[in-house]
Amino acid sequence: MARVLLGVSGGIAAYKALELVRLATKAGHAVRAIQTPTSQRFVGAASFAALTGAPVLTDEFERDAARGAYPGDAPPEHDPISHLELVHNADVFVIAPASVNTLAKLAHGLADNLLTSAALAATGPVIVAPAMNNHMWEHAATRANLQTLRQRGVIVIEPGTGELASKGEYGAGRLAEPPEILAAIEAAIVPPGPKPLDGLKLLVTAGGTREPIDSVRYIGNRSSGRMGFALAEVAADLGAEVTVIAANVGLDRDPRVSYLDVSTAEELRSACLTHFSLTDVVLMAAAVVDFRPGAPADTKLKKQTGQDSMRLELGLTPDILSELAGTKKPGQTVVGFAAEHGDKALDYGREKLKRKKLDAIVVNDISRPDIGFDATHNEVTIVTADRETSVPRSAKQDVATAILGEVSRLRAEDVARA
Ligand code: CTP
Repeated sequence: MARVLLGVSGGIAAYKALELVRLATKAGHAVRAIQTPTSQRFVGAASFAALTGAPVLTDEFERDAARGAYPGDAPPEHDPISHLELVHNADVFVIAPASVNTLAKLAHGLADNLLTSAALAATGPVIVAPAMNNHMWEHAATRANLQTLRQRGVIVIEPGTGELASKGEYGAGRLAEPPEILAAIEAAIVPPGPKPLDGLKLLVTAGGTREPIDSVRYIGNRSSGRMGFALAEVAADLGAEVTVIAANVGLDRDPRVSYLDVSTAEELRSACLTHFSLTDVVLMAAAVVDFRPGAPADTKLKKQTGQDSMRLELGLTPDILSELAGTKKPGQTVVGFAAEHGDKALDYGREKLKRKKLDAIVVNDISRPDIGFDATHNEVTIVTADRETSVPRSAKQDVATAILGEVSRLRAEDVARA
């Protein structure tokens, strides 16, 4: 049972916060709600008061009839300062929905209402579940505010993608579903203790390399880096010390992870070789371009009058994965990724596992548009010498959890055999 302080800011998704209160109280948590004045234009305080069984505050100067106590607790003798007492007594402060305006205020440390003042006074875990229009979500100001909050240790529950409140709008920005927010609340209040990947040094490659043709053009691929970044974040959650070598990835970064940026296959190779000897597990999720121009021009190539074609002489890039697997020491685990097309995907994956001498290979079928490259979801089969594990279509975070689970199993089996 936890004491949950729920901050509700303005937005249509405020109605979903009622469902969150219902689920949280049903799960045995004591909830107090505070609202911004704008949120009350969407959902009234009476609904939150009825579901929490406690007064709902909006104003810093309002007297709290419960004197900062949570349902089930006795109020103190004195009349405390509302925003300080409520947050002081909370095990977790969750702001759901967090509007674009509230996120901006939190990022800049403003304290212009009860919710933002309480956030500044919070010393425990703070979770934000943003909800807004997709253009606001994608705006550079919002990205920067989220990055600031993440760097300060605020837990961000990404909004979902789908139909948005305004008619005909579709995109990212829907408030995460209440069960997902409740799961994040419960994860945040787990007392710190040993984690499954404590002490493990993990190297993840992510994104796609770019091989220059001239000073402005390159050969590249559509890899966004989402799978590699998800692996890094989940591994950090599980206690691993994670380094990501990112090839041209524009995604948000996790403050617990070290990132190294590269562009070409050669740069990726050199960074991998530098880090490999200090690494227990390598997850080679980057899409390495296979062929590169032999002699890229260092200026921009110009087309000549009358020219209607052009020949590019390409040479193979180094196979980094094979090179790492070929030099690995006992205790090191090397995992490859194979993006394959169609029915034969798994056969190619099995063949690559053997040929590249890998401990595991994660195979996904890129003929499907809803998974794989540049998608938020993936569906994979993890192939090892002894078994094949299918992971049905799920968010890349869940696929990452399954892959790391298989890595842990493989390593435990190795220890048992030794
Ligand atoms: N890989 C690598 N170096 C390369 C090419 C690929 O390390 N030059 C790694 C990738 O990071 C990935 C795996 O090898 O983990 C994919 O292997 P492979 O199938 O050989 O790459 P593809 O380009 O998909 O090869 P194919 O021509 O068989 O489609």
